[in-house]
Amino acid sequence: MTQPIVQDMTEETIFTERSEDSTSAEEDYSPEKVKRSTVTKTVQNDELWKLSKRQEPSLSASTSESDIEALGTAESDIEDKVVKMFAAMGDADVESSLRIGEDAFMSAKHVNTSDVSEASLAARFSKTTMPQEPGNPAEYMAGMLTSVCDDSIHCGNPHMIGHMTAALPNFTRPLARMVTAMNQNSVKTETAKTATFLEREALAMLHRQLYKRDDDFYAREVQNAKRTLGLFTSGGTIANASALWIARNRSLGPREGFEGVCKTGFFKAMQFNGFTDAVVIGSALMHYSMNKSVDILGMGEQSLCKIPVDELFRVDLKQMEDAIIKFQADNVLIVAMVGIAGATETGSIDPLEEMAALCKKYGIHFHIDAAWGGPLIFSEKHSHKLKGIEQADTVTLDGHKQLYMPMGCGLCFMREPELCDSIKKTANYIIRNESFDLGKFTLEGSRAANSLFLHSNMCILGVKGYGALVDRSVRLVRYMADTIMEHPLFEVILQPMSNILLYRHVPAQFSDVDRTALTEDQCAHVDGMNRALQNTQKMVGTTFVSRTTIFSPHYKRNVVAMRVVIANPLTDEGNINKVLADQVALITAGFTPVDSDNHPMLTN
Ligand SMILES: Cc1ncc(COP(=O)(O)O)c(C=O)c1O
Repeated sequence: MTQPIVQDMTEETIFTERSEDSTSAEEDYSPEKVKRSTVTKTVQNDELWKLSKRQEPSLSASTSESDIEALGTAESDIEDKVVKMFAAMGDADVESSLRIGEDAFMSAKHVNTSDVSEASLAARFSKTTMPQEPGNPAEYMAGMLTSVCDDSIHCGNPHMIGHMTAALPNFTRPLARMVTAMNQNSVKTETAKTATFLEREALAMLHRQLYKRDDDFYAREVQNAKRTLGLFTSGGTIANASALWIARNRSLGPREGFEGVCKTGFFKAMQFNGFTDAVVIGSALMHYSMNKSVDILGMGEQSLCKIPVDELFRVDLKQMEDAIIKFQADNVLIVAMVGIAGATETGSIDPLEEMAALCKKYGIHFHIDAAWGGPLIFSEKHSHKLKGIEQADTVTLDGHKQLYMPMGCGLCFMREPELCDSIKKTANYIIRNESFDLGKFTLEGSRAANSLFLHSNMCILGVKGYGALVDRSVRLVRYMADTIMEHPLFEVILQPMSNILLYRHVPAQFSDVDRTALTEDQCAHVDGMNRALQNTQKMVGTTFVSRTTIFSPHYKRNVVAMRVVIANPLTDEGNINKVLADQVALITAGFTPVDSDNHPMLTN
């Protein structure tokens, strides 16, 4: 019954980027050190550039026969050289230098290189001409390791708790090599024979977790060439755009005398159907990918109707229903309602069940953006927070967030697979109507076989493994919130609903006062201190949290807040303590508050 192997591997072994002593040596946080560390690092991009410096033979009026012969030889040399680069077995020096570089990257202790500014990187990568002659791969890679890898952000570092990108299982890197070696193109079976069917299997497994349809349904649909249970995309943005594309085409589909919006375009579709306007309705916290989606769908950003949220950052249902009634009375088409399961800035989860009921009542397509929070479905403790997701017409999940896949994977699921008909396209040379080709439905054409990462994670981690990771990150965020609540220099701005936390630094002079009564200048000062603290911590580079500006229902105003996102399985309580200890050390060392453009502010 139990799965001891999965259990044993869940929290510790699989995500072995490195282990780190989180109570390591004290840092020098003096303003001098911080200032010194902004000095631009000398750039070693010359390694890359020198490869282009070789002389190219050229023809001129005085070119002799021997010159032309030499040129012919040079051309065939070039041909030989580049063709060799495609041989099955590569250069051993390249293999070993990249392997060493990878190991060095994975064992680095910092999040960010403190002495490298963004301005210096812009200068480092400002060449605009391409080398003429083929170069030496080993030399290029050696230069790349210095100019690119050394100064990259270590998203998998356990002290990097500010964004949604974390460590990956340690089997992902060798698998990525295999995925690249096979270089399948999942648009069609003729270039992705097994991967197409594996992708369908992976989609069905995850669809089942979300929608829990019966066995007959999955037996019928898992490999049904006419349809698909979901769409693989490059990320949550394209998954959301795909969902709204389906919703738009569905609500303005073909009927007697009308070929449908996908043929006529939006303007004629609105005219034919007699609508005065069209909207997508959701909470004020909808991700900006919704702005992009309505823009590319021809509806315009003004068609996004953003309903205010309550004090828990969940959409206000009363205002939502009032808006629906008004739109429908005014003959405005509601293309979709968007529920959020894990808002980007707050981790809050909308009342999904109640929203599903509203959609049913008013005949609206229900889309849930679960790009972040979808994996809560794996947790016995937390899956109840997603109740209602099984009623959504479409659901977005991000593979490269809490499904622990490498960058470049989003997913859009459909409750009823027939919905994919509304966006289906065919061609004569591939994606023919009767084929299994998944490119009939995906917005993207050519794409990598990223389904292998999803399939392997689901099979190796299992439901319980994913559930353990969700439980762990929710527990750690709670630990951090509790620690902050004990500390006079900080306050929690949002009690976490999942694994995102908002808090801020409270300067000592305001720690014992009623902060709802602060003056405008005092509020600006607190905001400025938080901006400066976050910036400085980023610059020092040993630990990291992100920052946002958000409306606080408690203070009834926008506040600058530190944003913590914990999903890295390597992060533990010690790492959290270190993040806070670094902030306390910076506060103690002292710094000047900055305005929203990072200019020093006048203190009061
Ligand atoms: C809730 C939500 N939806 C959509 C997206 C967009 O995802 P991606 O960046 O993968 O395109 C994000 C990204 O953070 C998100 O948090």
